[in-house]
Amino acid sequence: HNPELDRLLQAYEWSAKFYHYLLKNTEYGKAAMDYLRSRKFSDHMIDQFQIGYAPDRWDTLLQFLERRNFDLAEMDRGGLLSSRSEGKGYIDRFRGRIIFPIANRAGKVVAFAGRILGEGQPKYLNSPESKLFNKSRILYNLHQSKASIRKTRQIVLFEGYGDVISAWESGVHNGVATMGTSLTENHASMMKALADEAVIAYDGDRAGQAAAMKALSMLEATGLRVKVAVLPGGLDPNEFVAQYGGDRFREQIIESAVSTVKFKLIYLKKNHILLEEDGKIAYVKEALQIIASLHSSTEREVYLKEIASELDLSYDSLKQDCNLLRASMQ
Ligand code: UTP
Ligand code: MN
Ligand code: MN
Ligand code: MN
Ligand code: MN
Repeated sequence: HNPELDRLLQAYEWSAKFYHYLLKNTEYGKAAMDYLRSRKFSDHMIDQFQIGYAPDRWDTLLQFLERRNFDLAEMDRGGLLSSRSEGKGYIDRFRGRIIFPIANRAGKVVAFAGRILGEGQPKYLNSPESKLFNKSRILYNLHQSKASIRKTRQIVLFEGYGDVISAWESGVHNGVATMGTSLTENHASMMKALADEAVIAYDGDRAGQAAAMKALSMLEATGLRVKVAVLPGGLDPNEFVAQYGGDRFREQIIESAVSTVKFKLIYLKKNHILLEEDGKIAYVKEALQIIASLHSSTEREVYLKEIASELDLSYDSLKQDCNLLRASMQ
């Protein structure tokens, strides 16, 4: 039992409510509200995820905390305030940012992520790590999604807050996200403890797909069955839902997630120009490495046949090369 942590939890809970109120009910929140609406965040999503707004002023939260007799040095250590760079005293840490409260498994707010309105750096400002908040041990939205995860034995892993939120609105209630760090082994074992299957639904851009390649190995290493949802046109899930709607997102993206082998082949293909002989041969060589390591001969046949028809090659020659490779792998 630690009284300083209890006070910090209290401060986060009240600050989250305060920022949510400022967003929804005051002039300060108007521009942020317009921004969220332009990005198709509904009132329901804003409430469910307690989204807020920190006005672009130095002392909004400072005054709120002072009036409630919080110790400002403590609030600075906890990441709600910052020390002035010159002179004494404190200022609000989050200014002019949309606030996404980050809750622990028990549903207690332990940190904020603040998104700038529009363009600017950094895009997200997070609370610093503290005794309450350890990025590598927290999954965004786990407190709300764990019931659905346990029931379905499936967990969906997203890159960003907006992705989790718009997926939720689309009926995907088993989604979580890491917090601006890549997946850690600790995250992976947390996921394995709750589910049998993980669906990786990272952004469709290059960075997201490369991160998915890393995440899938880490998740498979825990013994989870893994699938990958492939987002078209470089979109992220949040953008896909805004553009095509939640039903299509569920059916065409989440429920149509592909096997990790299939995903690796798709990923590999993007790095080769298949219209040129060199590119085609290089692609097949690398693809065979993946396929040859599969234990099931049925699975090998399925993927070899796909490649054969796709590249206009004979199944027999692919199979022969695959078997040679398997022999050399023993
Ligand atoms: P993205 O750049 O894909 O952001 O980073 P996003 O979630 O799509 O955000 P919008 O739609 O532009 O508002 C994915 C995640 O990486 C972390 C955040 O957790 C973000 O949701 N991140 C990104 C940071 O922590 N800091 C940053 O500056 C950028
Ligand atoms: Mn509300
Ligand atoms: Mn991204
Ligand atoms: Mn994104
Ligand atoms: Mn996005």
